[in-house]
This record gives sequence, C-alpha cells and structure tokens, in this order.
Amino acid sequence: MAFAAGVDVGSTQTKAIILDEDARIVGRAIIDTGANVVKAAESAYFAALAQGGIDEEEVGYVVGTGYGRYKVTFGDTQITEISCHARGATHMFPGTRTVLDMGGQDTKAIRVHPNGEVIDFCMNDKCAAGTGRFLQSAAAALDIPLGELGSVALRAEKATPISTTCTVFAESEVLSWLGKGKKIDEILLGVHRSIGSRSMGLLKRVGIENEVTFTGGVTRNPGMVHVLNELLDTQMNISEESHYMGALGAALFALDRIKNSRAPIATKEVA
Ligand SMILES: Nc1ncnc2c1ncn2[C@@H]1O[C@H](COP(=O)(O)OP(=O)(O)OP(=O)(O)O)[C@@H](O)[C@H]1O
Ligand SMILES: [Mg+2]
Repeated sequence: MAFAAGVDVGSTQTKAIILDEDARIVGRAIIDTGANVVKAAESAYFAALAQGGIDEEEVGYVVGTGYGRYKVTFGDTQITEISCHARGATHMFPGTRTVLDMGGQDTKAIRVHPNGEVIDFCMNDKCAAGTGRFLQSAAAALDIPLGELGSVALRAEKATPISTTCTVFAESEVLSWLGKGKKIDEILLGVHRSIGSRSMGLLKRVGIENEVTFTGGVTRNPGMVHVLNELLDTQMNISEESHYMGALGAALFALDRIKNSRAPIATKEVA
C-alpha cells in the first residue's frame, strides 16, 4: 500500500494532503509559510503524515505545488498551482468549469475542461489588491481577527465604497473612513466588494461558465463567499477541503504516478 502526497507551499500558508490508494484523504496539515520556506514544506508534510499515522517510507510519490514548489526538497516533481487547483476542484466537484483560487498573495481565475485540464487562466499582476493580503491589511487596520472579518462585513446594510486599488494604501483608506465616522461593518463590506469586483474582472477575462468552484484560504471568509455569490448570481461550490484544493490536486497527480509510472505529469508551466 503506497500513499500519495501533495504539498502546496503558498506565499502565506503551506498545506499538505496525504491520500490512500482510493484517493481518500488520510492526513492533512496547514501551517503558516513564514520566512523559512524549506522548513514550512517539511513541517506541513510531517504533520500530515503524523495525523494519518503514516510512515515516510509508505509514501510512494510526492508532488510539490504553490509558489514555493521548488523548495519541496523531498518532492518527486513539481506542478503549477493552476493545474493543481483545477485538478482538485474537478475531483471534488465534477461539474466544475470555472475555478476561482483566492490565496494570500494571488487571485487566479481558471477555466477548466470537463476532464480537469486547464483551458485558460488569468491572475492578478504583481499587485495584491484583490487578494487575501488586502483582507489581512484591513483586519490589521481595524484590529479585528481575520476569522471574524467576513461575519462583521455581513452585518452591514450598506457598503462604504473603497476606492484604493493598492494594498499598501488600503490600511490608510480604511482608517480615514473610520476617522470620518463610518461604521466598521460598512467599511468592511466595501473592502469585500472591492475585492469581489476585481475577482469578477479576472473571471470575465477567462469566461465564466457554471459550475464555479471557489478554492484557497479566502473560502474560509463567509463575507467574501456571500459577495462573490451575489456578483456571480450563482452559488459557488465550496467544501471543507477548499483551502486544501491545491494540495489535494497535487496529491491526485502523485496518485496517478503511483498507479501508472508513465502517467503524464507535465502540465503547462506558468509563472
Ligand atoms: N480562518 C480564516 N478566516 C478567514 N480568512 C482566512 C482564514 N484562514 C486563511 N484566510 C485567508 O486565506 C489567505 C491565505 O490563503 P491560502 O493559504 O490559499 O494562500 P497561499 O496559497 O499561501 O497564497 P498564494 O496562493 O497567493 O501564494 C489569507 O491571506 C487569509 O485572507
Ligand atoms: Mg495558494
């Protein structure tokens, strides 16, 4: 019995998934990436193995993904996060035709073929304005825990329009609205809407086709989910696994390799 592993070293958080031969999740872990990327990859991997009670020798193949995929020193190969999120999303929700991955640093819109392959994708440029980082800046400015940001935004009856398109200035704009007496929930709804409309721009560039599956850490934010569902006028697919979708896709590619050592592993390389 060989297990398959996927390790997604994101700019913000590192996720690891271990699958058994029937593609069941038997171990998982998530940790902050921090400054030591090699260590983050190892720590998440060993934590996922420990959670599943699995020995390192029992793992037949490891795929690294995410921006730090080349730092997965124990990995057998690396695959881009675009391909891994597409694979994970279509495995979990076979009707998926569009994927929105919102992480800490990047937001990616991906159009997928029914077989899980990437048809087209589009991501934010160097600017982190439409990403989890923008939410983290707002949380810091308002001194609200990240986990509560979305539910506070959902209390608002109207939104304060946020005009800045730059994460660096997000904090000062949020504080200046607060100084002008705007309510925190209304400011936060404005922040969520601003990120939502940027994501819509990316999605429209690849073409939105139902079903839409939402992946990445921002899926944990109920405010973002609500705003996006409204803008898309549909209910996106989300599961407990959504934050792990890249790691899950990587582990599924690893499982292909265990089952067929000549399974094609190379997919479109992107920046
Ligand atoms: N409990 C939570 N509640 C709300 N938001 C959360 C929570 N946990 C994580 N997030 C959001 O998820 C983001 C991190 O997501 P993710 O782990 O997908 O990023 P990443 O893969 O490291 O980044 P990238 O893909 O851009 O390199 C954080 O910036 C934060 O906004
Ligand atoms: Mg990511």
